[in-house]
Amino acid sequence: MNRRDFLQSTTAVGLAVASGMAWAVDSVSTGNNKEPKMQFVTFNDGNKMPILGYGVYQISPEQTQQCVEDAISVGYRSIDTAQAYRNEQGVGNAVQTAIKGGVKREDLFITTKIWASNATESGVLRSFDASMKKLQLDYLDLLLLHQPFNDIYGAWRAMSKLKKEGRIKSIGVSNFYPDRIMDFALNNEIKPAINQIECNPFYQRQEDEKVLKELGIVLQSWASFGEGRNNMFSNPILQKIGDQYHKTVAQVILRWLIQRNIVVIPKTTKIARMKENISVFDFTLSNEDMQTIAKMDTKTSLFLDFHHLDAQTVKRLNSWKLPD
Ligand SMILES: NC(=O)c1ccc[n+]([C@@H]2O[C@H](COP(=O)([O-])OP(=O)(O)OC[C@H]3O[C@@H](n4cnc5c(N)ncnc54)[C@H](OP(=O)(O)O)[C@@H]3O)[C@@H](O)[C@H]2O)c1
Repeated sequence: MNRRDFLQSTTAVGLAVASGMAWAVDSVSTGNNKEPKMQFVTFNDGNKMPILGYGVYQISPEQTQQCVEDAISVGYRSIDTAQAYRNEQGVGNAVQTAIKGGVKREDLFITTKIWASNATESGVLRSFDASMKKLQLDYLDLLLLHQPFNDIYGAWRAMSKLKKEGRIKSIGVSNFYPDRIMDFALNNEIKPAINQIECNPFYQRQEDEKVLKELGIVLQSWASFGEGRNNMFSNPILQKIGDQYHKTVAQVILRWLIQRNIVVIPKTTKIARMKENISVFDFTLSNEDMQTIAKMDTKTSLFLDFHHLDAQTVKRLNSWKLPD
């Protein structure tokens, strides 16, 4: 069976339950007899987003189309890319394949991000058009400011205009710390729908969570697995918890975040792991296990080379200029 046929059969199963605001994953495609059901978060603008999606950071432009087609074929509907990942074209190609294979555009949720060098009023308008050409879409579900740098207020005015025109459904930010998101939310007509930040068992962002809750902004986790740093996948505490539920460390981490109502977008290039990572809707961690994981917090980023409060990091990230 080639990939396109596979997509069609998966979609037929998915569409059967789509009316209940939950997509089932083809039990054959997941290798799982239970059908994991997707959950959704609702933004402050009323739009909904799947709580689990697929991230494509560090997937090469050549590999991206196949990976995203694989992800959609096993049930993912939300895809997270960015101008800076240089793989928007591959995402766009895969989305076109999926739509031709029967997946409805409105069942997909596509996110991209404005890189810092484009984060000005005119830079957003110009680079958004370039992104949309690569993504081959007539509307975008979610556009984020990738970094809290450059003319973010001017950039937000342009993003707000695109939202009002219907070219983007929702707008949000990424890597904003509590002080900056508070100021940003207070001084803009449209509040961000979401803030995408590093969040994993070693850097849990509980203070950020409180501020975002106060503001009605959804928290989204990048690097839920910390890209495997700190031996995340062989952590004995997480392994012990997983054994009780017959689940892997990756599934425990995703479930722990989902039970905090945090949106996750795990990345993998391997279809077996894509299936593993989406199979997290058929178990619930106990309060005790949630508390055990809460104690793992070191309140420190696993990515010190991306520390957004460090002057040299700000200088380095501002020096990256993207061609359209
Ligand atoms: N806004 C931002 O500044 C920002 C920054 C970073 C990331 N992000 C977004 O967040 C997404 C996720 O973060 P991330 O890609 O940095 O890291 P991540 O999801 O924490 O980790 C990805 C790594 O985990 C491995 N992996 C995935 N599933 C696994 C499993 N079930 N078992 C064992 N290993 C597994 C992958 O390896 P294989 O691929 O070999 O399977 C890959 O090396 C990105 O793709 C991107 O969309 C945003």
